[in-house]
Amino acid sequence: LAQSRHRSRAGASPAVPAPARANDFARRYREVRAVTQTLAAPLSAEDCTVQSMPDASPVKWHLAHTTWFFETFVLEPEVADYRPFRPEFRTLFNSYYNTVGPQHARPQRGMISRPGLDEIRDYRSHVDRRVLDLLERDLGGAALDIIELGLHHEQQHQELMLTDVKHLFSLNPLRPAYQESAPLATAEPPALRWCHHPGGIAWVGYGSDAFSFDNERPRHRLLVEPFALASRLVTNAEFLAFIEDGAYQRPELWLSDGWDAVHKQGWRAPLYWWREDDAWHTLTLAGPRPVRPDEPVCHVSLYEADAYARWAGSRLPGEIEWEIFGARAAVDGNVLETGLLHPRPLAVENSDSPAQLFGDVWEWTSSPYAPYPRYQPPSGALGEYNGKFMVNQLVLRGGSCATPRSHLRATYRNFFPPHARWQFSGIRLASDAP
Ligand SMILES: [Fe+2]
Repeated sequence: LAQSRHRSRAGASPAVPAPARANDFARRYREVRAVTQTLAAPLSAEDCTVQSMPDASPVKWHLAHTTWFFETFVLEPEVADYRPFRPEFRTLFNSYYNTVGPQHARPQRGMISRPGLDEIRDYRSHVDRRVLDLLERDLGGAALDIIELGLHHEQQHQELMLTDVKHLFSLNPLRPAYQESAPLATAEPPALRWCHHPGGIAWVGYGSDAFSFDNERPRHRLLVEPFALASRLVTNAEFLAFIEDGAYQRPELWLSDGWDAVHKQGWRAPLYWWREDDAWHTLTLAGPRPVRPDEPVCHVSLYEADAYARWAGSRLPGEIEWEIFGARAAVDGNVLETGLLHPRPLAVENSDSPAQLFGDVWEWTSSPYAPYPRYQPPSGALGEYNGKFMVNQLVLRGGSCATPRSHLRATYRNFFPPHARWQFSGIRLASDAP
C-alpha cells in the first residue's frame, strides 16, 4: 500500500516521557493487531488465499505484509540477534520497497498457496511477541515513531482487506456474504444545500506534533477563491437520475480518458450494480440486495464522479476546499467501528455545516496527488512510503465505512488512479461562489 506520514523521525511527542509512550504503544499495538485478526476471522483459508485482480491482494498477503513491516523496519534494526521468521519472507511480502530489496510480483500474490494461513498466523504471533518484548525495553523515539507508522500502515491494510474481499466475492456467482446484514431504517435525505466559504488565505496541511503521514505536511498557506461545498453526499437516487438521463452514452459529459474507460470497460453503472427483475441490485459485504435510493452512491471512479458533477451543473471540490470544512468537523461518522461496512442514508442534518464528511465513502476531489510546497520525503526506505506515488493519481478525502476512526484526520490524503472503483469511493459536489 502506498501512504505515509510523518513528523521528522526525531520529533516524537516530546511532551510524553519515553516509558509512558512505550506503554501506550504496547496497548495500541495489541488493539490494532487484534482488529486485523478479527476482520479476517469470518474468512476461510481459501478466501484468504486467492487474488481477484492485480490491484487487490489476498487477505493472507495483507496479514503477512503488515507483519513484514514490523519485522523489517523495527525488529531487524532494533534487535541485535534478530533472526527472521523465514528469510524468504523478506522478498515474498515486500510490497514496493526497492531500498529493502526485490519483491514478489504483485499480480502473482494469489499464487502463494504456501505458506498456509496457519503459518502466517504463527508469523504474526512471532513478530508480535518480539515487538512487545521490545516495547518493554528502553526504545528510542525514532523506533517508536516507526512502530506508530506501522500501526497506521496496518489500519490502511484493514480497509484494503475489506475492499479486496468485496471484490473477490463479487466474482463468485454464489454471491457470498462476509457478514450478516443489519436492518436499516429508510430515510429521506434532506435536500442538498450549499455551505459557503468567502475565500481568502487558508492554512492547510498537518501542523501539530502528533502523528500524520508525510504527505499531509508541511502546513502551508493557499489562496482560495469563494466557493461552496455540498451539505451532503450524492445519493443513489440522484445517480440513478444521471444514468436514466443517458449520461453513460453522452460524450459531452466525460473527460476524454473517462469516455475511453466507459467504452473499454463497458461501464453503465457503478461497480457492483446489476439489473435484475427490472430493478438495480448491488453487492454489499452483507450480500446482494436492491439498490437503496437513499444511500450515498459508492464504487464510482473519478471519471464517473466528474461526469456526474458536470451533469449536475457543478464540479468536484478541490482537496483544500474539502479540508477547510473538514477541519471544523468532528472526526466521526459511519466508519469501520459502526460495523455496517456500507454507506448509510443521511437521516438528519444537525447544523449548517456539511454532513457525512467523515466515513461512509471516500470523496473524490479534483486535486492531483502532488507534494505540498516544501515537502520532503523521509530519508531511507520509509521515504518510499508516499513520495514516489505522487503522479497520475487523484486525492480522496474523509474516509469510508471501512476506515478505522482513529486512522482519520481532516488533513488525511488518500489517493487512487482515476479509473479505480473498488474502494468505497463516492461523490460530494462543490461550486464556485460569487
Ligand atoms: Fe503496505
